[in-house]
Formats: sequence, structure tokens, C-alpha cells
Amino acid sequence: MKSFRIRGGLVFTPTGTVEADVIVRGERIESVVEPAARSDDAEEEIDASGKWVWPGLIDLHAHTRVPGYEYKEDYATSSMAAAAGGYTTYVDMPNVEPPTTTLELFEEKRELADRDSVIDFGHFAGPTDMDQIPKLAKAGAAGFKIYQVTGGYPHDPRLAIDDPARLYETFGAIADTGLPCVVHPFSQSLFEHLYALETKRGKAADIHTFSDVYTRDIVWRLAVAILLELQRETGVRLQVVHTHAPGSLRLLRRAKQDGLGVTVAADPKYFHLRHEDIQKQGARAIPGGAVTSDPGRMQVIWDAIDDGVIDIIDSDHAPHTLEDLKLMEEDPLIGPFGAPHYDHLLSLMLTDVSTGKIRVQRLFEALTEFPARILGVYPEKGAVLPGSQADLVIIDPEMKVRPADDEMYSKSAWTPYAGWEFTGGPTLTMLRGEVIAQDGKIQVDPGFGHFVPGRAQRFSDPPPGRWQGVSLEPRD
Ligand code: DOR
Ligand code: ZN
Repeated sequence: MKSFRIRGGLVFTPTGTVEADVIVRGERIESVVEPAARSDDAEEEIDASGKWVWPGLIDLHAHTRVPGYEYKEDYATSSMAAAAGGYTTYVDMPNVEPPTTTLELFEEKRELADRDSVIDFGHFAGPTDMDQIPKLAKAGAAGFKIYQVTGGYPHDPRLAIDDPARLYETFGAIADTGLPCVVHPFSQSLFEHLYALETKRGKAADIHTFSDVYTRDIVWRLAVAILLELQRETGVRLQVVHTHAPGSLRLLRRAKQDGLGVTVAADPKYFHLRHEDIQKQGARAIPGGAVTSDPGRMQVIWDAIDDGVIDIIDSDHAPHTLEDLKLMEEDPLIGPFGAPHYDHLLSLMLTDVSTGKIRVQRLFEALTEFPARILGVYPEKGAVLPGSQADLVIIDPEMKVRPADDEMYSKSAWTPYAGWEFTGGPTLTMLRGEVIAQDGKIQVDPGFGHFVPGRAQRFSDPPPGRWQGVSLEPRD
């Protein structure tokens, strides 16, 4: 059995940071010990002095593009980007071809990931067929994903559910499974109306007008208001993604204070990429389809991360080729948008730690412990504790990282962060006691990753006086 002593790092445990050595034996963490403590066996040493030892990152928002869009990305390339970036588990989305809405398609997807992924993986399914919901849950779906936004790919009309009665019915069925229901909130009809108004008033039907209307507060806030009321009614475990509108955050804060069963995710493009930064970059001007240019709005997101309204930072790793993004210039209403993120997300966010934009403890929770709790795998994963799986990332908080298109694992081979300089990054990623990436190089073959089934859970009472944090407990 392989064993390691990870020596001299600052170890992030659930109860705080300690200077300690981590002993890994086989697939598990055996102990976290004083640096001076002896241990009898001859372990392989990993020098972590000056570095941080975190649980491997867990992402609940991957677009792996399999099946159907393998020319953009696949399980090998997305998982290698993720592994090199410090991730050990990811859960992907159903907007593929054909969309993952049946047991049969779910199982096909699972086999493909099993063959190719270098990190552990799960899948969200599309809950568009009521009969399939319990079957998908039984087969191990991590949860379900609803798109309220529709148009062309990646917002496939076959996955869209917008009508309140249909949402109510779907939420009820998902509530019975005990799995999370992830929703991309969006008032499609209001968006279309406002977009038509702008173009009638003489604005060009281009990505700039699209971006402006797509990110309007009311388009998101209205959807979130309805979702929260339907959550209150059905008890579904709601997870709201792409959270960036100040009005949505206000509603979500209040809902959490009221004890509603909701968790909140935000993806970095909304609080890093300004429209004017990326406008210069041609097709790269559309990495989010939409980003905001308003520093005030970005600050509202930072504040919500800081006070815990936003629980997790997910990647929305959404690779498209630059060629495909040009379609957006022809018709923004049906063109694809999205950007790859795994290669550099951790470095991007560590830079925010170094510049004081986010507390390191909050970042650590948002990328490891909280997504593990939502997935129901904590503390098996998402914790550096004796007995936990040895899923770890070693971080050099000082290293300089300069993203470049030709150094990406993502098949889309471009980054919205070209030309930026980051401070901090992962130097080694370990999954179940095996080094899977070191200094950016992948150390295992495709297929090393295991399937992680979803777990039925219910919200439990948070400690008195607290509404922040993810309080969940198992449900049979
Ligand atoms: O930027 C995005 N890209 N937002 C989404 O909602 C979907 C995603 C994709 O699949 O490309
Ligand atoms: Zn997405």
C-alpha cells in the first residue's frame, strides 16, 4: 500500500489551520500530526513547506460537452484541466446532445466518464420527464438542473422549464428524491421583451446589447422571486446558480434568514470580467454571454460571498471554440457563449486572497467543504481529517501564473485570462491517495476517476442565530 508524508505545510482542517504533516496511507488520510512526530513506516515524502494543504476542490458546475460536443471538450480534457487546477471531483450538466434526461442516457454518460475522467465525477440530469425523475435519482444522479433560459445551444429549449405550474410539479417530484435542484434563473419572456425594446429604439442587435439586457437585474430577480416561493411551497432543495444580480442577492439573503432550503452559487466571470476588458479580445468578448461592467455590482457579489449569502464558487467551466463563439456575432439570441475556467480558477481566486478581496477561509469553504456538503460526500471528501479520502491539493500561495492559450488542457484552447498575472496556484493534486497532477503535469491515465452518486439529504437547523453555512443531514 502506498503511503505519503506531506511535510511542513499549513494544513486547512475543518477546525482551523495548523502547521502539521499529513500522513496518507492507501486511499485515506491516516492522520494529521505535529511536524516533529515520528511515524514508523517509510513513507514517500512530499515537501509542502511554505505551502497550503487543502482538500481537493469540488465543482458542482462543469460542462464537459459529452456526448455530442466532443470537438469543444471531453471527459479526458476537462478532467485534466480540472486536476491540474486542483480539483478532484466534478459534477457536470445535462446540456449535451442528446440532453441527459433519461436513465438510459444517464448511464451512457456515466460509462463515458468512467472511461475517460481522471477525477471523480457525478452528473446532474435534466428533469424534463416526470417519470424519469425517480429513476435518475435511483441511478445515482447528483441532482437535477433546470434552465429557465432558452434559445440556441447551450440553452437548449428541450431542457427549459419556465412555466410556474410545471416548475411546481417538477420541484415536488425532485423534493421526493432528497437531491438538489440546480436552477439557472431567468425570465426569458421579460428578457425577450426588453431586448426587442432596445433594438426598436435603435440599439444594434449585437452581443453588447445582448449582454446589457441579459444581465439586467429584473430578468434574474423576478425568476429568483418565483423560485423561492415555489421552494417554500414544495420543500425542494433549491440551488440557484449564476448569482450576480443585486436584487437576486437581496431576495436570497432574506430567504436564508427565513430558513428556506436554498443554497447559492456564483461563478467567477461575473465578478472578474468586465465588459470593457474583454471587448478588445474579439470573440472573447462573450465569455459569459454577458458580464457586467459595473464595479458597484461586482462589489455586491464580493460582499455576498463574504457574508455567506453565496455559499459556493462554482466554475461554470463552459468551453466553446473561438470559432463557435463567432456565431454569437451573427445572432446573439442563438449563438453559444461560455468560457473554460478549470485551468486557472484557483489561481484567479488565490490572487483575490493576496489582494484582500476575499478571506482565505471563505474561499477554502466555498471551493471545498460547502460543495462537498451539498453533494452529500462530506467529510468523506472535502475535508483534511483522519479517515477522509486522501483528496488533496497543495497550493503555493506565492507562485506566479501567466495564463496562455497554448498551455491549456481544455480542448477549447483559449482562456479569457490571457495576459493576466495571478499570484498563487496548485502544485500537486492527489485523489484517493494517488498523485494525479504535479506541477501542471497529469500523472494518471484517463479512467482513474470514479463515479460519485448523489445522496438524499434534508436541510437541518443551523446553529442558533446563524443562517450562513450549509446545514444538511442525510435522508434515507
Ligand atoms: O456561460 C454560460 N455557458 N452560461 C450558461 O448558462 C451555459 C454555459 C454553457 O453551457 O456554455
Ligand atoms: Zn453553466
